[in-house]
Amino acid sequence: MAAQTPVPRRRVTAPEITARKGGEPIVSLTSYHAHTAAIADPFVDFLLVGDSLGMVMHGYESTVPVPLDLMIMHGRAVVRGARRALVVVDMPFGSYEESPAVAFRNAAHVMKETGCGAVKLEGGRRMAETIRFLTERGIPVMGHIGLTPQSINVLGGFKTQGRVRDEWAAIEEDARVVAEAGAFAIVLEAMAEELARKITGAIPISTIGIGASAGCDGQILVMEDMLGLSPRVPKFVKEFGRVGEAIREAISAYAVEVRNRTFPAPEHTYALKEAAPPAKAKSQTPA
Ligand code: KIV
Repeated sequence: MAAQTPVPRRRVTAPEITARKGGEPIVSLTSYHAHTAAIADPFVDFLLVGDSLGMVMHGYESTVPVPLDLMIMHGRAVVRGARRALVVVDMPFGSYEESPAVAFRNAAHVMKETGCGAVKLEGGRRMAETIRFLTERGIPVMGHIGLTPQSINVLGGFKTQGRVRDEWAAIEEDARVVAEAGAFAIVLEAMAEELARKITGAIPISTIGIGASAGCDGQILVMEDMLGLSPRVPKFVKEFGRVGEAIREAISAYAVEVRNRTFPAPEHTYALKEAAPPAKAKSQTPA
């Protein structure tokens, strides 16, 4: 019988995320490793290799110190782990702001090295020219406005945006310009619900909220936050699991069993392979 040809698995594309505007909510999470990417893959539309990995995994105080090489290393792992979801890799601080040409060189490097399907960069009007430059040259770009963590040194901290109406016009303009520049979707981070709803209704690309209400076209959370693995989480995070507690319990049980020598038990231990007993010589006497 001829072997069945496996049906090739297709990854979600950036234009498909745009096309989901106003439809069934887009589901996404951050992921930094192959194993969490493989677990999340069947449930999400895209995975973001966020530069939050600098804080979540590498103990930095902010995302500012994260280097491009680190994003590439984690990006490769997530692309290897996920088979179906679109993988978006964050451009870290300092890798794209200088000029559209620098941004293109670094974003193309990220795409070639990781195999990801899109990049994300922070900023509204100030990044519009760069977003256009990249998208016109084959690099799908996800925008990111509202609270932009790479700018905390200018913002003065992780501050919610658009809680007073005076701030709205500038943020709405950022969203409009990013969409016009060709971004396929835009993250709205930590902003007042009314503003997020207004922006979502006003632009033709999908809005992905994080702390920006159910009024967005989709949602993203940092996976470690929603799993209950992060020591502190912002107000907008719902902990859907208690993974931190489960890890603590498992490690404490392991430590007890190592100390009282109940682990490793016989079933975790290799026995010596005994040599087979010598075969008995056959009798030569006819029966
Ligand atoms: O780096 C990140 O994890 C992000 C999300 C919070 C959107 O940018």
